[in-house]
Amino acid sequence: MFYTIVGTQWGDEGKGKIVDWLSSKADYVVRFQGGNNAGHTIKVNKEVYKLNLLPSGIIRNKKCLIGNGVVLDPWALINEISNLRNQDIKIDKNNLFIAENVCLILPIHKLIDEINERSRGNNIIGTTKKGIGPAYEDKVGRRAIRLCDFSDHKNLKIKIKNLYDFHLPRLEQYNINTDFDKVFEDLVKISNEIIKFSAPVWKIINDAGNQNKFILFEGAQGSLLDIDFGTYPYVTSSNTSAGQIFSGTGFGIKENHNILGITKAYTTRVGSGPFVTELDNEVGSYLVEKGQEFGTVTKRQRRCGWFDSVLVSQSIAINGITDVVLTKLDVLDEIEEIKVCVGYEDGKKKYNYLPFDENIQNKLLPVYETIPGWQTSTFGLTSWNDLPKKARDYISFLESKIKKNISIISTGPDRVHTIDRNNLLSNN
Ligand code: GDP
Ligand code: IMO
Ligand code: MG
Repeated sequence: MFYTIVGTQWGDEGKGKIVDWLSSKADYVVRFQGGNNAGHTIKVNKEVYKLNLLPSGIIRNKKCLIGNGVVLDPWALINEISNLRNQDIKIDKNNLFIAENVCLILPIHKLIDEINERSRGNNIIGTTKKGIGPAYEDKVGRRAIRLCDFSDHKNLKIKIKNLYDFHLPRLEQYNINTDFDKVFEDLVKISNEIIKFSAPVWKIINDAGNQNKFILFEGAQGSLLDIDFGTYPYVTSSNTSAGQIFSGTGFGIKENHNILGITKAYTTRVGSGPFVTELDNEVGSYLVEKGQEFGTVTKRQRRCGWFDSVLVSQSIAINGITDVVLTKLDVLDEIEEIKVCVGYEDGKKKYNYLPFDENIQNKLLPVYETIPGWQTSTFGLTSWNDLPKKARDYISFLESKIKKNISIISTGPDRVHTIDRNNLLSNN
């Protein structure tokens, strides 16, 4: 059984919570793109776990794999492992496997991320400044350092030197000094802590697939941050959509693959870029407060707006989503009238998709339909029949617009706050 979890919006849809919920059944949980720009929060009773790089299955001591499509900051990884160990999570070479060909984020990438943002002037993307984009640039530029390079320190030194030399003119332009020797020494020091996790992930995962194990692929970011299909250039530097699992892990395309699109009952976005249903009013502020919409990674306040069925439908198509998971329904509990965007118009023309042209995107206005709110608490509910009728009507309305079943509904942050309409957990 193979499941992929992807976000259908701009990230922070609650992927971590759903991966944790579903991973009770999983044998393997696998990250296939992104890096520690991701922030996945998992709540189990009173304990809150925050994950950036590690697959969320680590909380349940599942076999966790980091695929080659990820960019890996060794220092961030060690820090995360240490924090989780302090929360009594077991992490060792029996449950963590990192692809030998994963590319590394080095300190220079964070500096370049910073410079890139500064040099964009008013068009800043609002990156997480974790060095994600520059690390992917070096990967494609064929000068990245990979995990397998740790085996030969002499060659490693030459490769790092080449990489630093390549970037030197730009750093000098911004009067930034880097101590190459120190970076090399630090990297060698930390390599001992990381190398033990190195493994042929592509092989482990294909063997597991051939034995029909339960493999769960954990997406990071959201489909609208995809480098190709997102709101470019206000996107992240990886393909965040489901197609990336194959090149980001080496897993061959197989049958029995279900793709769950994690979707917030409204919309949020961190960082810059177009957002047609954004609410710059008291409803928007209400969603921020009630939904606690503050970034896990950068602590920035998330921009909030109404549900956009145009964008979610687009994400469903691009990812081949089989079922939608609706999260944070409880955040809408007190709202009297809820709006749903069902199309766009720019004064001249109507659109049932988001055109790529930024000039058009900036002019688009949402076409809304209004649904009565239920004004009763749904927090923590675990059964479809216990939901107020108006909440069920809202969900049915969304299903009619996105033309996909919403088969799982999340009503709170804890793993037990989940409605499993089709008994997915008990049937697997
Ligand atoms: P991810 O990046 O997609 O994993 O999402 P984040 O963890 O960054 O953000 C989602 C936030 O919403 C986290 O703080 C979760 O604990 C919380 N959360 C997830 N599902 C629900 C839900 O159904 N209701 C409420 N109130 N909070 C939720
Ligand atoms: P999870 O996995 C929300 C956003 C940043 C910025 C843009 C580019 O928690 O859903 P980057 O550092 O990746 O170059 O930044 O992407 N971004 C996210 N927004 N959730 C995330 O991850 C994000 N990861 C990156 O805010 O706008
Ligand atoms: Mg997040």
